[in-house]
Order: sequence, then C-alpha cells, then structure tokens
Amino acid sequence: MKGIVFTEFLELVEDKFGLEMVDRMISNSDLESKGIYTAVGTYSFSEMLQLLQHLSINTGISIDNLLLVYGEHFFKVIEDSYPGLLATYKDPIEMISSIENHIHVEVRKIYPDAELPTFVVVQKTEDSLIMIYKSSRAMHHFGLGLMNKTFEHFNSKAIITLEKVKEDGTEVRFIINKN
Ligand code: HEM
Repeated sequence: MKGIVFTEFLELVEDKFGLEMVDRMISNSDLESKGIYTAVGTYSFSEMLQLLQHLSINTGISIDNLLLVYGEHFFKVIEDSYPGLLATYKDPIEMISSIENHIHVEVRKIYPDAELPTFVVVQKTEDSLIMIYKSSRAMHHFGLGLMNKTFEHFNSKAIITLEKVKEDGTEVRFIINKN
C-alpha cells in the first residue's frame, strides 16, 4: 500500500481525534515501519489493518465507518494531486465507471506497485450504475467515500447501496442511482 494512504490517514486521525490517539494507535500496533511513513514509500497493507483495528477499538467506531470517512477525506487529496485526471470527466457515472479502464490505469503508471481493486461494470445507464468491487483488502467503504465525494464534486446526488457478494467483503456489488 502506498505511503500517501498512510500519511493522509495519520493526518486525518490527528485532526479528528488528536495526536494522543495517533500515538496510542501506533504503539498498540506491531509495525515493521514503526509508524514512520513517507508519501512515496510502500508499506504492508497489514499495517493499515492494524491501525484501523486499534482506532476502531479506541473510538468505538466500526472499521467500515472509519474507512468511509477516510475515503471522503482522500477525495480531497485526489482533487489536489490529480486535477487533470478529474478534469477529463463531466459526469460522476462516467467517472466512476472508468476507474478500472482509465483512472486506476493512470494511477498504476505513476505507482507501478500500487495495490488496486478490480471494478467490473455490470450495468450502466445515463443515471444508474451497477458495479462489482473485488479486492483482498475489502476496502469497499473507502470506495463508497470516494464515490460520495465524486457526486459532490459534480454537484450531483445519488443513492448508493452496497451488497456483499462475499461475506468477508472481498467482493461487493455497488448499486448507484442518481437522484
Ligand atoms: C486505491 C488513486 C479514484 C477506489 C487507490 C490508491 C491510489 C488511488 C493511489 C492506493 C493504492 C495503494 O495504496 O497501493 C486514485 C485516483 C483516483 C481514484 C488518483 C481519481 C483520479 C477512485 C474512485 C474510486 C476508487 C473514484 C471509487 C470507488 C479505490 C479503492 C482503493 C483505491 C476502493 C483501495 C484499494 C483496494 O480496495 O484494494 N486509488 N483513485 N478510486 N481506489 Fe482509487
């Protein structure tokens, strides 16, 4: 997992819960990096999972809800870092249905070792989209947060429903309806 995902996560935790929570979360975890991350480095996903688990225990907020808020925050990082990529799109459904074949393809050119999910478009109309998310990392709620902010970015609104295809969340169906 790319370092920027860790550095932005730690900043958000500090913002929302304070530096003490960051320290507690890191010292509760057994991290090869010792909790020292650089934006351009690459770290094990198991470190992110440990940080999320301890933050969840310490705050009483579920991992899914933590990932949702983190995804919403991460959209701002994307807006600031890749404005050109976003400017390619005029419509949220067009953008979200192009993650697999365009957006993450570009991400992989920048970070060849990025660990990205797979999105398969099942059904697409002008104002609806059904997509299957697949990833061993089960970060579907991070994706949901990014999707929420994608609609906001285009001054649009949608109802997004998530259905687990696999109980462990490694395969999830997203049903998106513009309203
Ligand atoms: C992961 C970039 C749009 C879904 C990532 C990562 C980067 C990235 C850098 C981390 C890779 C790693 O840690 O190795 C971008 C950029 C985007 C974009 C630049 C737009 C210009 C989206 C959108 C979604 C999405 C709109 C909506 C669903 C995800 C998910 C992950 C991810 C769910 C977590 C990894 C996983 O689940 O396996 N993306 N992304 N991305 N991205 Fe994107």
